[in-house]
Amino acid sequence: MKAAAGLEATLGRVGLRMARSLDLNDVLGEITRGLVRDLEAAMARIWLVRAEEPGVLRLVASAGLSDRLDGSYARIPIGSLKIGQIAATRAPVCSNDVLEDPRFTDKAWLRDNGLVTCAGYPLEFDDEVLGVLATFARRPLTELELEWLGIFAAQASVAIKNARLFAEVTTLTRRLEAENTYLKEELGEAGRTGIVGRSAALARALDALGRVAPTRSTVLLHGETGTGKELFARALHEQSPRRAGPLVKVNCAAIAPSLVESELFGHEKGAFTGAVQRRIGRFELAHGGTLFLDEIGELPVEAQAKLLRVLSEHELERVGGAQPIPVDVRVVAATHRDLADDVKAGRFRADLFFRLNVFPIELPPLRDRREDIPPLAGAFMAALAGRGGAPKTVDDDALACLSAYDWPGNVRELHNVLERASILARSDRIGVADLPELAPRAEAAGDESERGPAPPHAPLRERVSAFERSLVADALQRAEGNQSEAARLLRTSRATLQYKMKLYRL
Ligand SMILES: Nc1ncnc2c1ncn2[C@@H]1O[C@H](COP(=O)(O)OP(=O)(O)OP(=O)(O)O)[C@@H](O)[C@H]1O
Ligand SMILES: [Mg+2]
Repeated sequence: MKAAAGLEATLGRVGLRMARSLDLNDVLGEITRGLVRDLEAAMARIWLVRAEEPGVLRLVASAGLSDRLDGSYARIPIGSLKIGQIAATRAPVCSNDVLEDPRFTDKAWLRDNGLVTCAGYPLEFDDEVLGVLATFARRPLTELELEWLGIFAAQASVAIKNARLFAEVTTLTRRLEAENTYLKEELGEAGRTGIVGRSAALARALDALGRVAPTRSTVLLHGETGTGKELFARALHEQSPRRAGPLVKVNCAAIAPSLVESELFGHEKGAFTGAVQRRIGRFELAHGGTLFLDEIGELPVEAQAKLLRVLSEHELERVGGAQPIPVDVRVVAATHRDLADDVKAGRFRADLFFRLNVFPIELPPLRDRREDIPPLAGAFMAALAGRGGAPKTVDDDALACLSAYDWPGNVRELHNVLERASILARSDRIGVADLPELAPRAEAAGDESERGPAPPHAPLRERVSAFERSLVADALQRAEGNQSEAARLLRTSRATLQYKMKLYRL
């Protein structure tokens, strides 16, 4: 280590650098690297006590002989080993002859690295023990040097406490922002958040919801688009003991695959190009509450592995971060896909599927629970009337029409159709004429050629093919079988027309 004369100035410089940053990792790095680089310590390490794991010191920074944060001294209970004793007694331990000192047990390691001195100091702020700072050196230290190191440890404590407070405030602010955005979205939907329906299928789903809500169990909501998966996810959170905590939503389909991990788990500053600032992930934001993973089937495979780890260990690592962060989050996932099929096809991890599928809730399509259509229509009309206004009514023919329709977009589509109808309707009664979207299907029904249109809930490709087939058939009919004329009508070549005729067996 430096001679005592230079020590004061050097410590001052390191102290300044560490005090300038509010990022805990920067501060910790500055302290340990500063001791090694500027003070020629052979090794410097810091252990901190974390709120999530009281009574335990976690190795959080290490420079010099090793910068690894795992290994045998990564986790030391307060009171055990010499490091744990420093925290328990709040007294520094300084030994200028570690090879002879019985408090140091790892003699071979000390000898191999030529270490003769160890100085360990408690890191304290007010009455709180933050952790322990330890340095090893290859020559004995003077009384004065040890005294200066003690003063440095006190400065380091302040810098660490500041950085922690800053991180806490930042996390809280972000959490509030996230909650706020979500609440705003929710307010936009006000009036239609209650679950409506009287079918046995819906009653079963509601019963399952009521049973699983009070537990911590992961829930998987499965259903076609617009069947109410998000509505159920919110209801689940509201009925759970976590209702006072945040409900955070992530739409896995809406995030670029390269950013999914950072979005979910956060990242440390400098983790990748563009990571100019630490970012708190959605998982951390949901701490104490519920995380709603929408469209879970779209999660990239690498992120699936990481998610599985968080679900089983209740700990996460930010991208580029070395420390596990404990999180207390209940996960509700939703998908319209058949995940079991995706597992078979190798698109979805089987182990993650089994973890998520602990408690599946099936939301059946609206066409399979038509009894729900009249009460839903009533509820939507009441909500659309707004406060104080008298709701428009749906006449019997229109209601029959609504009840007969297949609703590929399910409840959402019903809502949208009724919203448009209530604007279109000239009187306060909605009739069949106010439901133009549903009418063309009824007309087309009389005029179906052999295969007919694909059902509205069929996959897009099938529906497009059915549409294309009907266009080709129609053109052929109008051209009275003349292929050149039909091709002209369709503005395509005769070869293409013939290919399509063969394809559709026309
Ligand atoms: N049983 C219900 N009672 C009242 N409103 C409902 C019901 N089911 C769905 N809704 C309403 O229908 C709309 C669509 O529901 P939601 O967004 O929950 O569907 P989703 O299954 O998440 O659809 P997607 O897969 O397209 O995201 C919402 O406005 C929701 O409030
Ligand atoms: Mg949804």
